[in-house]
Amino acid sequence: MGQFPITRLRRLRQRANIRDLVRETHLHPGKLVLPLFIKEGKNFKNPIASMPGHFQLSVDQLPEEIKSITQLGIKSVMLFGIPSEKDGLGKMSYSDHGIIQKAIPVIKKAAPDLLVMADVCFCEYTDHGHCGVVIEHEHAEVNIDNDKTLELLAKQAVSYAKAGADIIAPSGNMDGMVLAIRHGLDDAGFQHIPILSYSVKYASAMYGPFRQAAEGAPKFGDRRTYQMDVANSNEALRECALDISEGADMLMVKPAHTYLDVIYRIKETYPELPLCAYHTSGEFAMIKAASEKGWMDEQKSALEILTAIQRAGADFIITYFAKEVAAWLK
Ligand code: PBG
Ligand code: ZN
Repeated sequence: MGQFPITRLRRLRQRANIRDLVRETHLHPGKLVLPLFIKEGKNFKNPIASMPGHFQLSVDQLPEEIKSITQLGIKSVMLFGIPSEKDGLGKMSYSDHGIIQKAIPVIKKAAPDLLVMADVCFCEYTDHGHCGVVIEHEHAEVNIDNDKTLELLAKQAVSYAKAGADIIAPSGNMDGMVLAIRHGLDDAGFQHIPILSYSVKYASAMYGPFRQAAEGAPKFGDRRTYQMDVANSNEALRECALDISEGADMLMVKPAHTYLDVIYRIKETYPELPLCAYHTSGEFAMIKAASEKGWMDEQKSALEILTAIQRAGADFIITYFAKEVAAWLK
């Protein structure tokens, strides 16, 4: 015997097959949701500079893209639309001729079993770039007409459900959005459509690349009057309690990598509800940029961070790495 015996911990790490046996967290492509940006127009696949490997796609590009996604074993996508016209109310988001309304049937035709989640918000559709109807603004303080926004959110959600969306995902952080959308869906005959609420959404700097990709950056002020203060986590539990009382079927924390403590607390408090985490555009871009510089190993970093998000308590993850991870896991 040596000075100190090999511990039971070390004994289980000595060989790869033993490590595999005792591994506690397993990433699976079926638990990853791939975001897609679909833009009005024809015949283009515009690379998004700050998000290597991601594109703004015109609807005609979707069948090919969807084929490659399903071949990799990815089972769900989250759709974001970029309209040709914007206005104060974001009317194109609930028009029958809206971009998402045109895209969903094309996706469904290409892959009937692919789960289609529709992000429900107004920032891509309003000329001011805020997530609801703006009443007034003074510097950073943007006042949103919550009731008017709720009415329009329900309209948008029903319109997406009519187009064939499987899951409705409101991301605007309006008070009462889940209840308003639930009523809207139920009244329109969509009682069976679940709501995945962006329950805990922080006013984060991690959305920078997304706002370029989705062309939804606010033209004035910021989103701190409706998104959460990054310093708070008790408040996250209150947000979840509210969403659950309004009928949310699934909860979400966003961003993910920088909010593992919040994911953990919510899963501990509400283990019975499916919890999603959104590994955001900025969190993706950081890994990409550092790997491009040769400062980090992309594959190892991405797998480690996504594993950590799942280990913290996320049941499924929205991530721009979905395709890469699915390929790496093959
Ligand atoms: C729209 C929305 C945003 C994201 C998802 N839905 C941007 C925002 O709230 O400013 C961010 C996603 C990402 O950064 O990957 N409300
Ligand atoms: Zn928004």
